Parts: sequence; structure tokens; C-alpha cells
Amino acid sequence: MNLTLGKYLRFKRKLLAYNQSNKRHLYPILEQRALVETAIYCEEYLQNAQYLTKRNDIFDYAASLLSNTIQISYVVEFGVWKGESINYLAKRISNSQIYGFDTFYGLPENWAGTHTPKGYFSVNGVQPKVEDNVHLTTGLFDEVTEKTLRRSKIPYLSLIHIDCDLYSSTKQALESVGQYIYKDVLIIFDEFFGYPNWKNGEFKAFTEFSKNNSLNFEFLAFSTRQVLIKIL
Ligand SMILES: C[S@@+](CC[C@H](N)C(=O)[O-])C[C@H]1O[C@@H](n2cnc3c(N)ncnc32)[C@H](O)[C@@H]1O
Repeated sequence: MNLTLGKYLRFKRKLLAYNQSNKRHLYPILEQRALVETAIYCEEYLQNAQYLTKRNDIFDYAASLLSNTIQISYVVEFGVWKGESINYLAKRISNSQIYGFDTFYGLPENWAGTHTPKGYFSVNGVQPKVEDNVHLTTGLFDEVTEKTLRRSKIPYLSLIHIDCDLYSSTKQALESVGQYIYKDVLIIFDEFFGYPNWKNGEFKAFTEFSKNNSLNFEFLAFSTRQVLIKIL
């Protein structure tokens, strides 16, 4: 490369300015710190859990556990958005019926600690196209879930996928399926940890819920933000 001294000096000045301006941003530091805290948290449980590198690996692992049984797998998903994860699960888990819940108007409040504002993920109330074994209900979790599961005569749940980001929504989600959370039920959280303020999000809602209901559980797998939990 033919780099003149002038060009080199201009490049160095730009690089310096870029580094200086980035130093003024807190977010990279908060993210780094969140990752370190997450790693420390995970380390304690790694003896019995797998570390998987991608979100779909977590889905595949759960699917492999469920597909070993001859029973129908009843699955619920809280937070459907454009249907990517629900359709993935519907294809991967054989013999499954999957119930998805969403307002389809995005997050009901700002996601504290991140850049994501209220209304983010809105698809203007329009449900996505889904696989034949997926059944969608529009509405807030605490208003529609119990009614839908009762009306559909769901006898038990095999897997609960929680992907609604907020503490308040996760709390609603867990409480709305509380009666179905017992031994052997699998729960996947999509944003359990690994980002700034994670201790006040899905993590906090599950910690409180498991304490209040005296639930024992184990981590089967971790990824950067996701966890697969089994109720004991
Ligand atoms: C991250 S998106 C879901 C992404 C989806 N699981 C995927 O991977 O393709 C989160 C969704 O949760 C929904 N949501 C959040 N809180 C909710 C609540 N309390 N009741 C209903 N829907 C909610 C939002 O509308 C949004 O579509």
C-alpha cells in the first residue's frame, strides 16, 4: 500500500479522535462489566450445565430432550414478534402444539438499562405467518394467557419460552402459567443475563418467582444471554 506520511498522520489523528470519543461512552464499559458478572455467575453452575454458543443451540438442546418422549409437547412462547423463534421451535420439536402470546405492539415500557424504548418490536398488531402447529393469541400476557390455555384444554406444559425482555412482562408471563410450572418443565429465558442491568430483568422476575413458589431448578445450558432451566 502506498501510504504517504500526510495520509498516515491524518489516519492517526482520526483514530485518536475516535478512541477519545468512545472513551466518553459508558455503554461499552457497562456491557463489559455485565459480561464479567455473567461469567462469574455462570461459573458456579458450569459443572452440570453446557455452554452453547448460539441461541438456536439452546432451542435444539431443548427440542432434543422433548423429542425423546412419545407425549405431545405443549409449548408456550411469551413474545412472538415476527415469529422467528416460535416457527423454529415448531419445526424442531416433533409432535408439538405451540401457543404464542404477544400484543404485537412492542414493549409496553422502556427496557431499562438498554437502548430499547417502549413500542420497540411493534408490528402494528399484525400476527406473523406461522406453522400449522402454532396458535397465536393477541393481548397482554396477564389478560389473555390463562383464558387461552384453559379454553384450549392444555393438560400440561413441556417448555416455556420467555422472550419479552422486561421484568414486568416476565413476571406477568410466569404468573400466568404458574399452575403449569412443576417438575421436569423446561424454561428458556432469552435475555436472562449478559447485558447492563440484567439483574433487574428476566433474571429478577424468575429469581423472585422461584423463591415465592419454593421451586428448585437446575441450569441445563447457558449461552451469552439465554439459559435453559429444568424445574426439579
Ligand atoms: C424480543 S420480541 C420477541 C422475539 C421473538 N421471540 C423472536 O425471537 O423472534 C419481544 C416481544 O414481546 C412482546 N411483549 C413484551 N411484553 C409483553 C406483554 N406484557 N404482553 C404481551 N406482549 C409483550 C412485544 O410485543 C415483542 O413483540
